[in-house]
Amino acid sequence: MTTLDDDKPRPRGELTIQVVPLPGDTNANGDVYAGWLIKQMDMAAASIAGRVSQGRNATVAVDRMEFLSPLRVGSQVSCYCELVDIGRSSMKINVEVWTLDRAAKRPRKVTEALFVFVAIDEHGRIREVPDQL
Ligand SMILES: CC(C)(COP(=O)(O)OP(=O)(O)OC[C@H]1O[C@@H](n2cnc3c(N)ncnc32)[C@H](O)[C@@H]1OP(=O)(O)O)[C@@H](O)C(=O)NCCC(=O)NCCS
Repeated sequence: MTTLDDDKPRPRGELTIQVVPLPGDTNANGDVYAGWLIKQMDMAAASIAGRVSQGRNATVAVDRMEFLSPLRVGSQVSCYCELVDIGRSSMKINVEVWTLDRAAKRPRKVTEALFVFVAIDEHGRIREVPDQL
């Protein structure tokens, strides 16, 4: 790894989901829906929340999102998750999305958002997140 490589922005967090948007994931103009991407991000964060809380959980909040660059059909889309905080029943998980177009050499960042999940029991009531060993 060179010093120059260290200057390149790179994804933060654990690679949690990698997926390729297909033509069915687009609007009539062939552009990928933001909602499709938010679904991938929610699923990625939920898988971390499920592992941390060892059970059921629900998304309780998502902070504001900006889309920095478009997503193309056939590109590789990667969601990276970072657990940034654990409360009594809540978990804050930052999700970054990076994409690699088919002809591109380097991935580019598409968006990021902070998801808040709450651990819930079988009745939908909040429960404590177990101690992390
Ligand atoms: C998740 C749910 C059970 C929480 O119930 P609640 O009455 O808000 O619970 P509380 O106020 O006791 O908050 C529980 C935790 O969530 C956190 N929280 C609640 N609302 C929050 C918000 N808007 N932003 C950040 N954190 C939030 C609280 O700080 C608390 O964290 P802590 O226990 O770690 O201190 C309830 O809000 C719910 O069922 N929401 C719907 C979830 C859902 O269906 N999501 C999918 C939508 S399609």
